[in-house]
Amino acid sequence: MEINPAELGIPERYKLLIGTIVPRPIAFISTVSPEGVPNLAPFSFFNGVGSNPMTVLFCPANQPNGTEKDTLRNAKPVSEGGTGQFVVNLAVEPYIRQVAAAADGYGPEVSEFEEVGLTPAPSIRVKAPRVAESPVAMECETVQVVRTNGHEPVGGNIVIGRVTHMFVRDDLINERFHINQDQLGAVGRMGGLRYATTRAQFELPANREALNLPDPLG
Ligand SMILES: Cc1cc2nc3c(=O)[nH]c(=O)nc-3n(C[C@H](O)[C@H](O)[C@H](O)COP(=O)(O)O)c2cc1C
Repeated sequence: MEINPAELGIPERYKLLIGTIVPRPIAFISTVSPEGVPNLAPFSFFNGVGSNPMTVLFCPANQPNGTEKDTLRNAKPVSEGGTGQFVVNLAVEPYIRQVAAAADGYGPEVSEFEEVGLTPAPSIRVKAPRVAESPVAMECETVQVVRTNGHEPVGGNIVIGRVTHMFVRDDLINERFHINQDQLGAVGRMGGLRYATTRAQFELPANREALNLPDPLG
């Protein structure tokens, strides 16, 4: 099938994105509103940007009526009315149901921490709490919000954040900063309502020697 996105509706384009860009890591973003209410929501349009400086991004789309999701309202820079801060917690196996539940449409006056039963823990450098149950937390200062379609319905937004402090649970990291992938238990998002674990892993060298090795999946 040859597809021209311009001839499709928004839901079809969305299905193509989430069905083909898989698996996606899930940032479980905690923020605090300018009024002081904690907020927690998952975002699978999420990735690292670079390590000099240590930078990440996630993408909260506008609501169908064009308004901002609570996370964007809270995380956008102070100059735009937000707090300019957020924390990336990870979506991991032990509380994956709470991750999904936090995507429910709770209003800005409600703390998803309380609604889904996770524990806010004080962060070191930002006001937003981290998730105490999360094995990893990246405390971020918002660098910039790039809006791909202003305040239009479902327009995409890129929140770029600089990591100013990071927490990693002691049993997951060694003195060379290698993370124990098996212990981490990260969960990824697939298309629709599907998720994938990271339990089936294999290694390959990142060079042409990979061609001379037997198919690791064969
Ligand atoms: C696993 C998962 C991943 C999600 N990823 C995104 C995403 O990348 N972008 C987005 O706009 N919404 C995403 N959502 C939906 C938001 O989490 C949902 O709209 C949530 O209510 C936003 O909360 P907030 O208004 O407190 O920011 C995702 C939902 C789930 C369950």
